Amino acid sequence: MEQQKRYGHFDDQHREYVITDPQTPWPWINYLGNEDFFSLISNTAGGYSFYKDAKFRRITRYRYNNVPMDNGGRYFYIKDGDTVWNPGWKPCKTPLDFYECRHGMSYTRITGRKNDVEASVLFFVPLKKWAEVQKLTLKNESNGVKTLKLFSFEEWCLWNAATDMENFQRNFSTGEVEIEGSTIYHKTEYRERRNHYAFYHVNSPIQGFDTDRETFVGLYNEFADPQAVMEGKPRNSHAHGWSPIASHYIEVTLQPGESKDFVFLLGYIENEQNEKFEAPQVINKQKAHALIAELDTTEKVDKAFAELCEYWDALLNIYKVKTGNDKLDRMVNIWNQYQCMVTFNFSRSASFFESGIGRGMGFRDSNQDLVGFVHQIPSRARQRIIDIASTQFPDGGCYHQYQPLTKRGNNDIGGGFNDDPCWLIFGTVAYIKETGDFSILDEMVPFDNQPGSEVTLFEHLKISMDHVINNLGPHMLPLIGRADWNDCLNLNCFSWDPNESFQTTENVSEGTKAESLMIAGLFVVTGKDYVALCQKIGKADEAARMQKAIDAMIEAVKKHGWDGEWYLRAYDFYGRKIGSNECEEAKIFIESQGWCTMAEIGAEEGMVAKSLDSCKKYLECEHGMVLNNPAFTKYIYEYGEISSYPEGYKENAGIFCHNNPWIVCAEAVLGHGNRAFEVYRRTCPSYLEDISEIHRTEPYVYPQMIAGKDAPTHGEAKNSWLTGTAAWTLLSITQAILGIIPTLDGLKIDPCLPSAWKGFTVSRRYRGAVYNITVDNSAGAEYGVKEITVNGKTQAGTIIPPAPAGETFEVKVVMG
Ligand code: BGC
Ligand code: NOJ
Repeated sequence: MEQQKRYGHFDDQHREYVITDPQTPWPWINYLGNEDFFSLISNTAGGYSFYKDAKFRRITRYRYNNVPMDNGGRYFYIKDGDTVWNPGWKPCKTPLDFYECRHGMSYTRITGRKNDVEASVLFFVPLKKWAEVQKLTLKNESNGVKTLKLFSFEEWCLWNAATDMENFQRNFSTGEVEIEGSTIYHKTEYRERRNHYAFYHVNSPIQGFDTDRETFVGLYNEFADPQAVMEGKPRNSHAHGWSPIASHYIEVTLQPGESKDFVFLLGYIENEQNEKFEAPQVINKQKAHALIAELDTTEKVDKAFAELCEYWDALLNIYKVKTGNDKLDRMVNIWNQYQCMVTFNFSRSASFFESGIGRGMGFRDSNQDLVGFVHQIPSRARQRIIDIASTQFPDGGCYHQYQPLTKRGNNDIGGGFNDDPCWLIFGTVAYIKETGDFSILDEMVPFDNQPGSEVTLFEHLKISMDHVINNLGPHMLPLIGRADWNDCLNLNCFSWDPNESFQTTENVSEGTKAESLMIAGLFVVTGKDYVALCQKIGKADEAARMQKAIDAMIEAVKKHGWDGEWYLRAYDFYGRKIGSNECEEAKIFIESQGWCTMAEIGAEEGMVAKSLDSCKKYLECEHGMVLNNPAFTKYIYEYGEISSYPEGYKENAGIFCHNNPWIVCAEAVLGHGNRAFEVYRRTCPSYLEDISEIHRTEPYVYPQMIAGKDAPTHGEAKNSWLTGTAAWTLLSITQAILGIIPTLDGLKIDPCLPSAWKGFTVSRRYRGAVYNITVDNSAGAEYGVKEITVNGKTQAGTIIPPAPAGETFEVKVVMG
């Protein structure tokens, strides 16, 4: 591949990606905040903030799908004589003498330089604080005195991000603010039912302000040339209705070489009902004052920043690999783990491809996300499992989504996605394998959040398994319901009406008969874990009962699910094959290959090996493996959304990065180390840095989808950040390839490597003990452990039993 233009580089030592050209092929973003207060920030400081829920508690406004693409954010305007510029280049786009954006672990630092003034802004959300800090440092690098006019800028969202965008007849009359010293308070709707407000503060005196957008910007101007800024004159406007904003105006004089810090703080406050006001119409600012006091000096902010860095040090110290390959090591040690934290926090809600107002937390998504995150903060994964299980129905079906603020199931989408129950087992078992905390199974968990309906979490797992076996179709394969993992394979929802949702439209005919081979494989994989779990906790009868169901499922797949060279994908409503050589298009699909091979169904008969060969032959292309092949060229009413996409995009033969790692895991089952790594590498973002112009999304995180070989834009990625790809690629590299595998019985070591690798080391904390693992592959093997020693003593088998927390073990593994 020809060397292309780069837009930055990795700085592994600081765990940063350093962007050196503001005109990236797409906004390259980062996330701030770890638990309650969150922000999205692009490389030009675009983006927005919210408290817990991007729909119901949006703090600052953002216009999606805008022209230009990324417009609106936290902007600093610097007026130096006649020149007005921004440290992040946008929105003025005044050419800078120097630009750099460093996206790090939950922080971003943007530095710009113009006419011998340097402006550097550090953005982060301190741990446990409901606020975004923006520490701006202005430095005079000239030989003369500099007199600058500084304007800050934030635009308030009227809280509900959905109605904010549509209900203008109301919105234009509700906006309210208060101004006190250097703090601008946003209190729209506080007079009525809201018990929360936001503020924007700076820790220095101000010489003016604006809170009304139209007054500040001008009705016919833009963010790029706000009238107040261009004229160097704040209006001291007080917003009444319309669109409230917050802008501070500060006059700054800098001697040659002098620098000054300003700490800006965007905060969120909640008050008790009876403590909302300090006087009629005047909001109670006590908590705001207290929060400001915690972060009103450079020293306090630097300390909070150091704490955030220590937090990430500790998290990323839990798992560390050294293979000698920088591209790989930085993904495993830094960016892939970081993306897992972000997907755990946000599910599929808020990114530059997800508006924050659509989906809340996905049932299947969150269960998969927590698998990539559980080693970092197991207690949060535990709580998440309970939250998710609480949205299950008594028959084992599940709400497909829930809102993070209320934790209630989302009625708009409802249930009926028949893979969902299996993922609860997947998530819970992964949690127990990591932590050894079997007590989670005894937690009392309600159905549909109804008090009084509580049963143990174990019962939830049991009915999850039962939901599959109670919903088998004509071939004794799992009924698909509205869809399985592939939301777009809508085999029971026939629709000719473009105003209907593909997922929730009901089939008018009787019953729903379509069956899924993907769920069949998923059931066998998670079922094996469930059986092992039952045996472990003394439920031998239940283990035997479920083993029978699994055996029956395996038989059904072998009998009705094999097409000769690969596994079928499904049976449609009329019992016709999908994903078969007999089909005109989409003869083969990746999902059933991934899951039936991981389940090892028909391994003795050669099905697993043949299926993987077929993936290579029919699905693989330069940028990864496509989802199906050949692509659909026309809409098929009985298939639904999948055939609605033009060829090569999304679920119609796009490279869905999420299911490529399934093939990695499956190749590892067969001990194919070279192939496993080859499939892993093709979609790995750090390997794609050199083709950023084609790939377009961030080279430090995975996208959901890369345009497939049938697309005119083959190789172009979309939908970065919030995707199950994060957890699955981490799982595939750390467990399938590097082979450091948490099990119910302890840590298993069973690598599957490219034969050219001479070895690697991993340091991993597991159940409180530290394992320093050295793998020696001087034999050039792809698979097979010859010997393991733990602290010098030979270990029988590949599983190291759990050890007391706090101990450290030196583990030597010889392959061959
Ligand atoms: C997308 C899917 C997504 C679904 C969610 C579809 O339009 O193609 O990837 O899972 O919407 O509702
Ligand atoms: C994205 C959705 O969030 C996920 O749940 C689904 O499995 C994939 N799209 C595939 O359709």
